[in-house]
Amino acid sequence: MKVPFHDIAQRYAEEREEILACIDRVLSKGHVFLSEEVDAFEAAICLYTGAQHCVSLNSGTDALMVGLWALGISRGDEVITSPVSFIASAGAIAHVGAVPVFAEVGDDQNIDPAAIERKITPRTRAIMPVHWTGRIADMDAINAIAKRHELAVIEDAAQAMGARYKGRHGGTLAVCGAVSAHPHKILAAFGDGGFLLTEDAEFARKARLYRNHGREARDNAVMFGVNSRMDSLQAEVLKYRLSRLDAIIERRRRNVALYRQIIKPGPVYIPPETPEVFHPYMMFLVQADDRDRLHEYLAGRGVQTRVYYGTPLHLHEASQKLGCKRGDFPVAERQCDRVLALPHAQHLTEEQVVYAAKQVNLFYGV
Ligand SMILES: Cc1ncc(COP(=O)(O)O)c(C=O)c1O
Repeated sequence: MKVPFHDIAQRYAEEREEILACIDRVLSKGHVFLSEEVDAFEAAICLYTGAQHCVSLNSGTDALMVGLWALGISRGDEVITSPVSFIASAGAIAHVGAVPVFAEVGDDQNIDPAAIERKITPRTRAIMPVHWTGRIADMDAINAIAKRHELAVIEDAAQAMGARYKGRHGGTLAVCGAVSAHPHKILAAFGDGGFLLTEDAEFARKARLYRNHGREARDNAVMFGVNSRMDSLQAEVLKYRLSRLDAIIERRRRNVALYRQIIKPGPVYIPPETPEVFHPYMMFLVQADDRDRLHEYLAGRGVQTRVYYGTPLHLHEASQKLGCKRGDFPVAERQCDRVLALPHAQHLTEEQVVYAAKQVNLFYGV
């Protein structure tokens, strides 16, 4: 049996008619930027997430950078973030001129609020929790720390589409949240895409200016910005896919529940669910003994798995100039040595998931 990890081509096959209709609608009108389709997508995201404002952008990375910029974070400032993330979290901080400062994670792979507190200095301006795999970080504790120290909080909600914390959507739990619509995300464009969520009208205004060269009118740039607009094709496809999101999350959660039932505890640790977080499972990561051999064993039996990621952010070459070294964040390092993403996406049948889960048990002989 084959259990594939990604589903981009299969997804297209399932949605072909609707996607082609989206493309046809946009191209027939000929408005490919800042069109009514983009407005309609942003309105649909606000309705779904409960955010006051959605500013669509070119990518999740741009959403982080534009968000930091609109918060006024710049040279010399420090932003505390998680070493367990995709490199864009730290990269965005560095690109606005600030310094990424890492803080240790907990068993759930999210930043540990107590570790944040220990990293605060007079230069700290903001905290950037990452909702890793779509599991929301401990936002009550993080917001309380931010309030006590007068810091801004920007959520890296790149993986958190469909995620909720105490009923509120990821990315709406702080001053702003950055979401990715990369093709591997749950709400997937067919190229790069992302957006910012915020309650703050002035923040949204600045982000809109910045994404469009700082132009208030065609011939008046009130500041120097960048080109980071989401195009109308992506917006129209994403609006269509948003209508299917809940069904997709349900199928992913069903697949994860099967894994939880079948995989024997011991050599494999699966972070438990908590009552305050609704987890959409953008990714399903387990922490496994002898991870690399398990990965190969599963590949040999047709089960595709992925290591997301084998290197914590502080051990990338780019982080060397921050003075980071192995041993700085032992929990994060151990997790990166053990982490494995199992295939759980919506296209998989129950039979495929049961097969994959049983292969994990077979590897350990349990
Ligand atoms: C946690 C995290 N932050 C930021 C990003 C960047 O998003 P994008 O790829 O849309 O630029 C990603 C995407 O993989 C991510 O997983």
